[in-house]
Amino acid sequence: MSSLEGVLRQDWKMFRGYPMVLPFASNWERIEQFQVRPDDIVIATYPKSGTTWLSEIVDMVLNKGDVEKCERDFITNKVPMLELLAPGQRITGTDLLDKAPSPRLVKTHLPIDLLPTSFWTNRCKMFYLARNAKDVATSYYHFHQMNKLLPLPGPWEEFLEKFMAGKVAYGSWHDHVKSWWERKKDYPLLYLFYEDLKEDPKREIRKVMQFLGQDLDESVLDKITRHTSFEAVKDNPLLNFTNLAIMDHNITPFMRKGMVGDWKNHFTVAQNEVFDADYQKKMAGTTLKFRSEI
Ligand code: A3P
Repeated sequence: MSSLEGVLRQDWKMFRGYPMVLPFASNWERIEQFQVRPDDIVIATYPKSGTTWLSEIVDMVLNKGDVEKCERDFITNKVPMLELLAPGQRITGTDLLDKAPSPRLVKTHLPIDLLPTSFWTNRCKMFYLARNAKDVATSYYHFHQMNKLLPLPGPWEEFLEKFMAGKVAYGSWHDHVKSWWERKKDYPLLYLFYEDLKEDPKREIRKVMQFLGQDLDESVLDKITRHTSFEAVKDNPLLNFTNLAIMDHNITPFMRKGMVGDWKNHFTVAQNEVFDADYQKKMAGTTLKFRSEI
C-alpha cells in the first residue's frame, strides 16, 4: 500500500469484524505495539460526534486557556489519530504520537475491543464523546462526500441503510456508543454528549476541567468557550481541516452546520419511522439515552 492515490475512494476493508478505512487496516502491528504512557489522555468517539471540538477543549484546558500555546500546530498534529495511516505521505498516528511530548492527547474512533488494552492497564484518562445517531448519520453522509479517503456514500437513502446496518467505517454506531457506556461501569472514563456541549458548553468544559484535575477561573472557562465555539472553529485554519488535500471543502466543509437536529432536513417521515423502529431494537436494554433535539 504505497501510494495515496491507490487508497482514495476505496471500499472498506473488513478487519476483525469491523469495516475499516482501507489504509488504516494495514500494518496493525503498529497499533498493537504502540507504547502507551500512563499520562496519555484518550479522546474516543464514533466519527462525526464532535471529536475535533472536544480535542481543542481538552488542549485548551491543559494549557489553561492560553490561545497562543494552543495555536502551536494543527489539531491533527496536536491530537494525532491513533489508527491514522496515510500511505503516500508515510504518516502514521503512532509515529506522530511517538514523537509527541507528554502528556499526549490521543484521538481514536476505534471500537472498544480494538483499542490496545495497555491504555486500560496504564489507567490512562479517557474521554468518550457521543452524539445522537440521526445527526451522526447526517454528518457522516456529508463527510463521505468531501473526504476522499472514504468511499462515495451514494444516495442518502442508501447511505442511511448502510449506517443503520453498521456497514460504514468503525461499524455500528449503536454498538460503539453502548460498549463504551458499559465500560464506564468499571472504568472511570468521562462520557460526554455533543448535545450537552451544545446546550451549555461552559458547564461541560467545567466537567472536562475537573476530570483533568485542573482549577481554572471563570474568565478562563469563558475564554475556552469562546475559542471553541462553532463560529470560531469554523474559521480557524488550525482546526477546520482546510490544510488536508484529501478533503474537498467546496463540496461541503468539515465544519458544516455544528447543530443539533440538522437530521430533520434530511430524513423523510418514512425514513424516520424505520430508523426509530430499528433504533428501539438495537438500543433495548441500555440505560444510555440520547437527545436528537434540544
Ligand atoms: P456537522 O457535520 O453536523 O456540522 P468530528 O470532529 O467528530 O469529525 O465531528 C464533526 C462534527 O462536529 C461536524 O458536524 C462539525 O460541524 C461539528 N463541530 C465541530 N466543532 C464544533 C463546535 N465547536 N460546535 C458545534 N459543532 C461542532
